[in-house]
Amino acid sequence: MKRKMFLKDLGQKVICKMKKNLENTEVPKVVVVGHVDHGKSSFIGRFLFDVGEVQKEKFDELKKASERRGVEFEFAFLLDALQDERDQGITIDTTRIFFKTKLRKYVFIDAPGHKEFIRNMITGASSADIAILIVDVDEGIKQQTKKHAYLLKLLGIEQIITLFNKMDKVNYSEEKYTQTKFDLNKYLAEIGIKCHSSIPISSKLGDNIVSLSKNMKWYSGPLFVNVLDNFKVSETKISEVIRFPVQDIYKIGEKRVVVGRIESGRISKGTKLIFLPSNERVDVKTIEVWPKAKKEYVIGDCIGITLSEQIFVDKGNMASDTIFPPKLTNRFESIVFWLSEKKISSKKKYFMKINTGEYEVSVNRIKRVIDTENLNIKKNNTVYKNDVCELVIHSSQLIPMDDYSFNKSTARFCLLDNEEIVAGGIIDLKNYPDQREVKELPKRNITPENYSVSEIDRSMKFNHRPGIIWLTGLSGSGKSTIAKNVEKKLFKRNLNVFSLDGDNLRIGLNKNLAFSPEDRTENIRRTAEVAKLFTQAGFIVLVSLISPYRSERKKARDIRSELFREIYIKASVEVCSKRDVKGLYAKAVSGEIKNFTGISSPYEEPEKPDLVINTSIEDVDESVNKLEEYILNEFSF
Ligand code: ADX
Repeated sequence: MKRKMFLKDLGQKVICKMKKNLENTEVPKVVVVGHVDHGKSSFIGRFLFDVGEVQKEKFDELKKASERRGVEFEFAFLLDALQDERDQGITIDTTRIFFKTKLRKYVFIDAPGHKEFIRNMITGASSADIAILIVDVDEGIKQQTKKHAYLLKLLGIEQIITLFNKMDKVNYSEEKYTQTKFDLNKYLAEIGIKCHSSIPISSKLGDNIVSLSKNMKWYSGPLFVNVLDNFKVSETKISEVIRFPVQDIYKIGEKRVVVGRIESGRISKGTKLIFLPSNERVDVKTIEVWPKAKKEYVIGDCIGITLSEQIFVDKGNMASDTIFPPKLTNRFESIVFWLSEKKISSKKKYFMKINTGEYEVSVNRIKRVIDTENLNIKKNNTVYKNDVCELVIHSSQLIPMDDYSFNKSTARFCLLDNEEIVAGGIIDLKNYPDQREVKELPKRNITPENYSVSEIDRSMKFNHRPGIIWLTGLSGSGKSTIAKNVEKKLFKRNLNVFSLDGDNLRIGLNKNLAFSPEDRTENIRRTAEVAKLFTQAGFIVLVSLISPYRSERKKARDIRSELFREIYIKASVEVCSKRDVKGLYAKAVSGEIKNFTGISSPYEEPEKPDLVINTSIEDVDESVNKLEEYILNEFSF
């Protein structure tokens, strides 16, 4: 009996979420953005009035109240009043106003005047289907106009409706309208947003909103209401790639029901899922939707599922299909809208919310700050409130994430500092590798053979221990030069030594690899495995490989950690660019070479290298002697 009650309760919870969902998917969501004084509230107030969503009595009452107080009535008051009184015919809450035209229903998200709207938009609390940018034609384009347009672009909005308000203030001047429109369109083109329609309006007098203006004979339409009604809300493609962030786990007797909203893909009984970050694979055993589950659920559906095996699943985990799971990484780049008066601090821990997950992160580096005014890169890397910047973010945990180009809704996140939302952003993973430890390996029935000559026998014969001397550093830092010289010197001392050089390996063993994060990861893995074979043969191996990722160097170390030494061949990008022995930096800067380490692809300095050789201070002889001595100390008997 109790169980039944529980189930019913669960069912209602799920149904409740599904209803909410329907609201979300069926009614286009409209957002109005623009400079603070350019008339967002007046416009919405006027529009609601003109489409008949405000009772006449309410309007008259407000008008009279204004007169009594000796202030001119403004349509913005209407919105304030609507927000105060929820017994109107219009459904309104703090962030949403439902309304309808003759053709369809809509919802304005984030009532204007509500200061949190940027926060809500960027944190994904609301994602708009239709975006309207409002500009005071008299004042022209302001910094905030540009910032809001840029923000829309960051949020993945491709086209917008632009309204040129307060035409009455400029005597309905066509020239003024054309000029402001030209300026705005120029900026929109620069940031890659298409202008769907431009309309000259006056919210105060109602020109061109629902009825054609008698004051602008030069404008023959269309009206705002018609543009809105004809705006095609792009239908979200039903992607086959599954993203199902876990919102909650309901325990019902023995059953554990995993609840969430499908962000993409389809889920039905039997669907194979991988849960991240645990990497565990299971099948969907049942779908728990009350009173009766459908066969298949798709994007936007809120469902509960049970799993074929009892694995540990927690709120914040991400379930996905097994073929294209999100990357797992503890380091990523991002484009961020900084919302706080507080300065960014690399010493601080921030709280990152992504999908349903929460992680502690820190800002590793401010790559650049973009001036939204002219889209130039700011000279100094100081980030102020409302600036857009590119950050490298780090976490001690692995976080499942998608690149923004792959899935807009799951690649958004926000950062909190003591409960204050300080930033919202999108994830750019193109420069970072997947750090997933265990990829699916086919079962191959392989039993390794023991070697007949042991490593110890070889060491005794050669009179030194084997070792992997891993030289990491930028291209041109001096890795190969040092390795070659040290190899020669150790060989003369009768040590069994061999040099593995990145460039040389890339001609043979690694010739099918380029410089994407995935290829570099594989390059490092193969080289580490070859180095391991050399140690088994009793050699000291000198590896010269940029190996830009900390995570991958750690994996290389983990293969034979007792024999592995990380040597940081240190020289800054500036120094290496100046040397530019192979002429590659010049090509990278001109864009001829893509993903070039230090220029267009990251290099993560070792945190605790076993030895640092700073080649911008030490000359070749000094560097070579230092490494030779280090190796002799560490590995000879
Ligand atoms: S790694 O990143 O995968 O470790 P690796 O050490 O094998 O790099 O190869 C680096 C060498 O490849 C450089 O010294 C340079 O000669 C050449 N090279 C060509 N394209 C690139 C690139 N995009 N980034 C870095 N090195 C490149």
